[in-house]
Amino acid sequence: MIANLYNKFGLYVKNKNESMRNLGIFIRKIFKFKQYMDRKSKLYPNQQKIPYINQERGVLTLPRAEYQAYFQTEPIISAAIDLKDKAENAGFQQSQKNHLITNLLPLDTIEDNSPFIDFALNDTILNMVSSYLGFIPLLSYIGVWYSPPVLKKYDSSQLFHCDQIDNKQVKVFINCTDVTDKDGPLTCLTADVSKSIRKKINYEWSDQRQMVSDHLIDQLVSNNNINVLTGEKGTVSMVDTSSCFHFGSRVKNGSKGRLMIVFQYISPYAFTLPFKTNQELPLKWIASHNRFSKIERLVLGHGS
Ligand SMILES: [Fe+2]
Repeated sequence: MIANLYNKFGLYVKNKNESMRNLGIFIRKIFKFKQYMDRKSKLYPNQQKIPYINQERGVLTLPRAEYQAYFQTEPIISAAIDLKDKAENAGFQQSQKNHLITNLLPLDTIEDNSPFIDFALNDTILNMVSSYLGFIPLLSYIGVWYSPPVLKKYDSSQLFHCDQIDNKQVKVFINCTDVTDKDGPLTCLTADVSKSIRKKINYEWSDQRQMVSDHLIDQLVSNNNINVLTGEKGTVSMVDTSSCFHFGSRVKNGSKGRLMIVFQYISPYAFTLPFKTNQELPLKWIASHNRFSKIERLVLGHGS
């Protein structure tokens, strides 16, 4: 009964405006209070060795030189390039002929010793993500995304929008190719600018109102408020895609396309997660593995 109400309420408020969503998260957090406090109490001490995600900005970009003392991206970049090459040699599947191909890394093929898991559970990465969110998060998704040059009218994630799943989250993006202006870079507004826009237009996360035209954004913000996350292969960006308006994959003619790895970290009370959270998490079966620490198991969904 409680689980049913909790689940229905989450799905109901998910598509509403900012106040309703914040109220929704507040109420769902009460139901998950014990888990929330447990995740909060295990926060890492602040290291201050590497830049953190600023709360007002919600966006951080790190070139390789700034992070290589703390974590490595080479193993996952070469694994991602292999996955893309194999899919491309096979001619991509019919479902993959879109402006954004997201199914190159099937989650059920990820083993506990995968380099993708090593990266997702890296101490510095978890420290940076949890410092921004205020608790030890759940890892809800790992993906390898390829955006080929598909010339058609911009659609869905190619338009400015804020993500529905939670009211705050961190997506970690790793460029597996050099990304210039013509390669469809992730483009975003900071969290504070996005918040003021949402207020001005009474933004809602419903399917009909989630996407906002460039024309409207241009009327409301100046060009220097738009962050274009170009960068060499190996550049890491962390973006709160629920708080920050963003788009990507506007790949132009003459580009070879953009290849990225994406890790998503959310709260245990995110709108789409059911009361029994760990039933829904794609990597839950890895969580019970002995080699992981208590914090790592929490991130994989244990005890949610
Ligand atoms: Fe998005």
